[in-house]
Amino acid sequence: MNLQTTDLLLLADGETAPGEAKIPPRKPKWYDTFNYIANPDRFCRENFNKYGPIFKTGVFGGTTVFVGSATANKMTFNGDNKYTEIALPATTMEMFGEYSLFQRPELHSQRKAALAPGLTGATLTGYIPHINNIIYQGIKTWSSQKIQLYPAVDKISFDILTPLLLGISLNDSDSTTFKGLPVSSKAELKALYETYFDGFYGLLKWESPLTAYGRGIKARKKLIEFMGAVIKRRLGESGNINPTQDFLSMMLASQQENPDGIFSDTLIKNQCLLQLWGSHYEISGFVCSLIYQVGKYPQIFQRLRQEQEQILGENNNINQFSPEHLKQMIFLEATIKETLRTLPPSPTATRRLTKSVVVDGILYEKGWTLIAEPRIAHIMPEHFEQPEKFEPERFLPERNEGQMYKFIPFGGGVHACLGAQMAMIVSKVFASHLLQMFDWKITGQPKFVQFPIKRIRDDYQIEIRGSNF
Ligand code: HEM
Repeated sequence: MNLQTTDLLLLADGETAPGEAKIPPRKPKWYDTFNYIANPDRFCRENFNKYGPIFKTGVFGGTTVFVGSATANKMTFNGDNKYTEIALPATTMEMFGEYSLFQRPELHSQRKAALAPGLTGATLTGYIPHINNIIYQGIKTWSSQKIQLYPAVDKISFDILTPLLLGISLNDSDSTTFKGLPVSSKAELKALYETYFDGFYGLLKWESPLTAYGRGIKARKKLIEFMGAVIKRRLGESGNINPTQDFLSMMLASQQENPDGIFSDTLIKNQCLLQLWGSHYEISGFVCSLIYQVGKYPQIFQRLRQEQEQILGENNNINQFSPEHLKQMIFLEATIKETLRTLPPSPTATRRLTKSVVVDGILYEKGWTLIAEPRIAHIMPEHFEQPEKFEPERFLPERNEGQMYKFIPFGGGVHACLGAQMAMIVSKVFASHLLQMFDWKITGQPKFVQFPIKRIRDDYQIEIRGSNF
C-alpha cells in the first residue's frame, strides 16, 4: 500500500498500522507546557526548524502532536464524530458550559447553522453604521498624544461588540441603561467579563475565591443572571423584535417563531455570554497588532493611505463610509491577512483522537491530542513564499497565497470561526478611520502577552499625530 497519500486511513480498534507508517518525531518532555505557554511563537518555530511541521510534545500532558502542514490541518479540523473529540482543559470546558459549540458534537452543525445569521451576511452588513460610529467617536479623542494602545483599543472594541452581541446600549449617563439589571455600570460589566476570561485558563479546577477558576465561575453565574434580566426586559418591551438588530434579537425572534426549536432560554443566555467573551479579546488583541504592523512599515502605511484617498476621496466623512467602500479596500484587506499570518492571535483546534489514523504516511495514535498551529502553518515555505517577510502583496490575486488549510488564523473545517467576517469588518473599519484621521509612530518593539491570546501588553504606547489627509 502506498501511504504517501493525503487520503486518510482510519484504523479500527486493535488494527495495527501498515509497517511503513511513521510516528511523528520528537519525544514529549515534561516541561513542554511551560515553554509553550511562555512563548508559543518560539516553541513552534524552534521545533519546526528542528523537526519539521509535525512533531510530538508533552503540552498539556500526555502526547500532544503539533501540526502545521495542510493535510494534517485538514485531518485535525474535520474529525468531529468520526475520529476526534474536543480536547480542552477541564477548567475551560466548565467555563464554556454545555451550550457552547464545543459541547454536544451531535448538535453542533444544527446549532452553528442557527447562530450564523446573527453574525454574517446582511445582518452583519447592517451592523456597519454602528461599528463605524463607535470607532469614529472613540478614536477622535486620540489626537496628538502618546496613547497606551491596548487599553485604548480594548475600550472601543467592548463598546462596539456589547450592543451587537448582548443587545444593550452602553450609555452610562442614561439612567435607563442598566435599569432593572443586576449589573449597574459598564465598568462593572467589563470587570465581570475580565474575571470570567481569566477563569478559563485557571490551572486548578477548584471552585474557591482563591483560584482564578473559582472567581471565573462566580463571574459566569453573575453574567448569566445579567443576560436573563436583559432578555426579560427586552421581551417586556412593546413592538416586534427586529431579528437583524443584534445577535440577541436574532435568537429571540427565532425562538418566537419556533418555540420548540433550538433556541431555549438557556442557550440564548449562554451564547450571548460566549460570543462576547471570544470576540472581544480576540478582536482587541488583533486590532492592536494591525496598528503596530502598519506603523512599523512606512511604505505599507503610505500605500494604505493612498488606497483610502482613492476610495473615499478627499471629502471623506463617516456617512460616506459604506460596505461597498470596504469591499474596495483590497490592499487593507491583504494587510489585515498578513498581520493574521505573522501574528496569529491564538492556536486553533485542540482535538483528541478517538481512533488511530494514518495520513501522508504518518500514524496518529488513538488517545493523542492534536493542535493545529497557525504559528507553524504560517511560516512554512511550502505555504508562503519567503515567510519571514511582511508582504501584504502575497494575499493579492496575482500571488494568491493563503489557501485553505495553509492560512488558518480562524481555524478551518467543521469548527471554523463563526466571527471571522465580523473580525475582518471591525479591523478594516478601525484601520480605515485611523488612516483617514492620523499619522502614527510606533515606539520600539512591544512586549506581548503570549497566552491564551497573543496581544501587545498594556503599557505599550504609540505616538499619534493629526493627519492632513
Ligand atoms: C481576530 C479575531 C478572531 C480570531 C483570531 C478567532 C479565531 C478562532 C479560531 C482559531 C477558532 C477555531 C477553534 C477551534 O477549531 O477549536 C474560532 C472559532 C470560533 N469563533 Fe472565532 N476568532 C475571532 C473572532 C471571533 C468573533 C468576532 C466571533 C463572534 C462574534 C467568534 C466566534 C467564534 C465561534 C462561535 C467559534 C466556534 C465555531 C465552531 O465551533 O463551530 N470569533 N475562532
